[in-house]
Amino acid sequence: MAARRKASLPRVSLDYTGCLSDRIGAAGFTRQQIERSAAGTRAHLKRLRRGLDAGRWGFEAILDDANAAADAQREGRRLGRLAQTLVVDGIGGSALGPLALESALAAGPRRLTILDNVDPELVYRQLHGTEAARAAALVITKSGSTAETMANLLVLLEWMERAHGPRHAQRWSAITDPAKGDLLKLARRLGFSTLAVPANVGGRFSVLTAVGLVPAAFLGIDLEGLLAGARAMRDHCWSAPPTRNMGVMGAVLLWQLATRRGRNIQVLMPYAGRLVAFADWYKQLWAESLGKRLNRRGRTVETGQTPVTALGATDQHSQVQLYVEGPHDKVVTFLELEHYRRDVRIPRLHADLDSTGYLGGRTLGQLLKAEKLGTEVALSAAGRPNFTYRLPRISAHVLGQLIYLFEFQTALSGELYGIDAFDQPGVEAGKLAAYALMGRPGFERDARRLERELARRRAII
Ligand code: PA5
Repeated sequence: MAARRKASLPRVSLDYTGCLSDRIGAAGFTRQQIERSAAGTRAHLKRLRRGLDAGRWGFEAILDDANAAADAQREGRRLGRLAQTLVVDGIGGSALGPLALESALAAGPRRLTILDNVDPELVYRQLHGTEAARAAALVITKSGSTAETMANLLVLLEWMERAHGPRHAQRWSAITDPAKGDLLKLARRLGFSTLAVPANVGGRFSVLTAVGLVPAAFLGIDLEGLLAGARAMRDHCWSAPPTRNMGVMGAVLLWQLATRRGRNIQVLMPYAGRLVAFADWYKQLWAESLGKRLNRRGRTVETGQTPVTALGATDQHSQVQLYVEGPHDKVVTFLELEHYRRDVRIPRLHADLDSTGYLGGRTLGQLLKAEKLGTEVALSAAGRPNFTYRLPRISAHVLGQLIYLFEFQTALSGELYGIDAFDQPGVEAGKLAAYALMGRPGFERDARRLERELARRRAII
């Protein structure tokens, strides 16, 4: 029994010593305060559980949908047999997940080219840098109508047709709402193969649906490992007692630091280049989910903690001065790696010099770990809250654990703030304005209102 329990323990761990007052002074909390706060989340957890069980939010149920995973596997492999590069057209939650998975886990020869902007110079460069004859295309938009994605879709259609002629449709795949939207209509009209984003899974929670799994399968990433890792973390988050629970403790610490200690900025700082895109994925998850004007009762609350990303050790020489000595408004969340896929031995050269002698014979990985520890110690000594998620390595299983952990933490934080973590009215407003300004039918009134507003712009130098 004990052995079984041990085997199911997640391998990511959380060290929150840097949030305790005996380490960082007044900015921290006593262990009792934090544990009391964690124990007080029972009602919030129940509310979250009820929403998940009622199917209002589907980010957890997707982990058990073996058919959806098999379909994604099949589609990704089909595209992989046709192409070396998959051009992915999508934005926000429809792009950040695939990018995070590719950067962290891809090891084979295949590549993604991700069109997640309509910057014309960027798109021009991306398409000119991709060999169309060896490319397939994947368009992802849950709503089926996002202006940036639809514009790039038209550009990409022409690009693919020019390279592959009228049979280019077989090199396409579309991921969208299963029942509605213009992308679904278009995909059917053109004969594209289609996969669904479940209606109850929003873009930023969709990385473990077809949205992330099809590109991952194309790249040869271990989907089962990814999903098994997420399920293992789900078991942990719903079975470990609150004070021993990484999801609960993470949410509680960040919430307490924001609301009681004015730490309104969270810096996510991986010490692994492969996790930079993952940090960007997290930034969207945290920002769009928790940045809300109204709480569930309709009261103006204007919540949210601004996520920022930094890379260790690079940003130690750019940002850390500010984190150690600047305003007391930040908490730093480190992602620390125990084993790098490859390490580099530092040659024993010029051993007579002070600045090189001590390095020879060590490895770059050892130096990077020492750098992280140094930053953590400096922050703590300056009374700056910080905590560390320690990863044994970057594997599909470990990334799956982290994805679920951060999704759970975000969803629970929504409950703690009393807001809806799953909508994005602020993003929708921007989308509607873009439709109006670009002349989309049905948005004429918005267009007139915006033009009146633009005419009132006076503070231009
Ligand atoms: O998380 C979200 O819901 C958003 O960021 C969307 O992913 C983003 O706006 C793109 O929307 P869509 O997938 O409908 O094109």
